[in-house]
Amino acid sequence: MKNQVPDFCVFILCVLSGTVLAKVDHFYKACSVRETCGDGQTITFPFYIREKQQPFCGYPGFEISCNSNGNPVLNLNNIDYIIHEISYNNQSVRVSNAAVSETNNSNASCIDLSSHRIQNLSLPEDRFALLSYQSELVLLYNCNSSLPGELLRYRDGICEVKNKTAGTVLALVSNDANLVNASRECSGDLVVAPVDVYAGNGGGFGIGEVIKSGFLLNWTASNFSVCEESGGRCGFDASTYHFKCFCTDRPHAQQCDPVKANGLITKVAIGNTAFNSSS
Ligand SMILES: *[C@@H]1O[C@H](CO)[C@@H](O)[C@H](O)[C@H]1NC(C)=O
Ligand SMILES: *[C@@H]1O[C@H](CO)[C@@H](O)[C@H](O)[C@H]1NC(C)=O
Ligand SMILES: *[C@@H]1O[C@H](CO)[C@@H](O)[C@H](O)[C@H]1NC(C)=O
Ligand SMILES: *[C@@H]1O[C@H](CO)[C@@H](O)[C@H](O)[C@H]1NC(C)=O
Ligand SMILES: *[C@@H]1O[C@H](CO)[C@@H](O)[C@H](O)[C@H]1NC(C)=O
Ligand SMILES: *[C@@H]1O[C@H](CO)[C@@H](O)[C@H](O)[C@H]1NC(C)=O
Ligand SMILES: *[C@@H]1O[C@H](CO)[C@@H](O)[C@H](O)[C@H]1NC(C)=O
Ligand SMILES: *[C@@H]1O[C@H](CO)[C@@H](O)[C@H](O)[C@H]1NC(C)=O
Ligand SMILES: *[C@@H]1O[C@H](CO)[C@@H](O)[C@H](O)[C@H]1NC(C)=O
Repeated sequence: MKNQVPDFCVFILCVLSGTVLAKVDHFYKACSVRETCGDGQTITFPFYIREKQQPFCGYPGFEISCNSNGNPVLNLNNIDYIIHEISYNNQSVRVSNAAVSETNNSNASCIDLSSHRIQNLSLPEDRFALLSYQSELVLLYNCNSSLPGELLRYRDGICEVKNKTAGTVLALVSNDANLVNASRECSGDLVVAPVDVYAGNGGGFGIGEVIKSGFLLNWTASNFSVCEESGGRCGFDASTYHFKCFCTDRPHAQQCDPVKANGLITKVAIGNTAFNSSS
């Protein structure tokens, strides 16, 4: 970013005097910087990347970290979820359990659910909600390795466990008629994992793919479109615990003032956009 500042200054100096540039609010400038973890997804309000973006450019509880593969990671009640796609328009995000999604996929024909355990989803309810039309997958741990024939298909696609103390793992959808009988064969944890796509009734439905493709959460945060449409950058004031709309002149409560008739402010905004999209 620093090495682009001269270009930016030259561009602006052609258009404006230096005094106007000096007046661009520093909150606005900080929150105009587009960042990614490396996978190409642009992270913006209400999310912000820890150590890459200022916390005031996001909303409390929407901090993201980056994993070594360049994926954004959301931590919900101490469990990491990889962010696949953020849909800012409909305020939803597709996530999957990082423990299984990040595993070294040396055997693509099965998913290892024993050494990389999925845990029950626990949401900070004031921030995120599970979109309701999705399915629930029930994972049963420490199951008997000699199963009755009608239950064998529930371990299809799950890697055989080398370490027998971890036990056989079974996966069924929560409304499967065999759930009660299957759970009798298992003495370990029962974990409920939300999944977005479900095709089939038991075995052979590509359970690894289903788990890795994740599920959808929606979020509650202030409606930011009014601020953005007025040319502002959304943010948050931790001291008052309120949404802020950062504008070129100063932070506002909801939206920026209408553009001044002389057009100077519009040109600053255009200059900044060009600057950021080239970085
Ligand atoms: C939100 O948008 C994404 C991508 O455009 C889509 O996959 C998802 O189903 C949408 N969610 C809702 C609740 O409309
Ligand atoms: C993945 O597993 C293979 C074979 O076990 C190994 O050679 C490779 O280094 C592993 N890669 C990572 C990133 O752990
Ligand atoms: C999130 O989705 C749930 C279930 O579909 C819905 O009841 C809720 O109103 C949504 N919340 C927001 C903030 O969109
Ligand atoms: C596993 O199943 C077999 C056959 O039904 C049974 O004999 C055995 O006792 C079971 N083992 C456990 C630990 O439940
Ligand atoms: C991959 O998993 C399948 C099914 O569990 C198994 O039959 C196969 O031997 C495994 N391959 C390797 C290289 O581990
Ligand atoms: C099997 O897993 C248990 C629990 O994770 C561990 O204590 C034990 O050392 C493992 N055994 C082998 C042979 O890897
Ligand atoms: C569950 O097991 C019992 C006894 O083994 C059997 O009679 C019953 O049909 C099974 N239920 C289902 C849904 O298969
Ligand atoms: C996960 O949640 C289910 C109920 O939704 C519960 O029965 C189960 O005990 C929980 N598992 C763990 C490991 O806490
Ligand atoms: C946000 O506000 C705009 C303009 O008032 C409105 O069109 C839009 O539907 C609102 N979005 C949400 C998610 O409330």
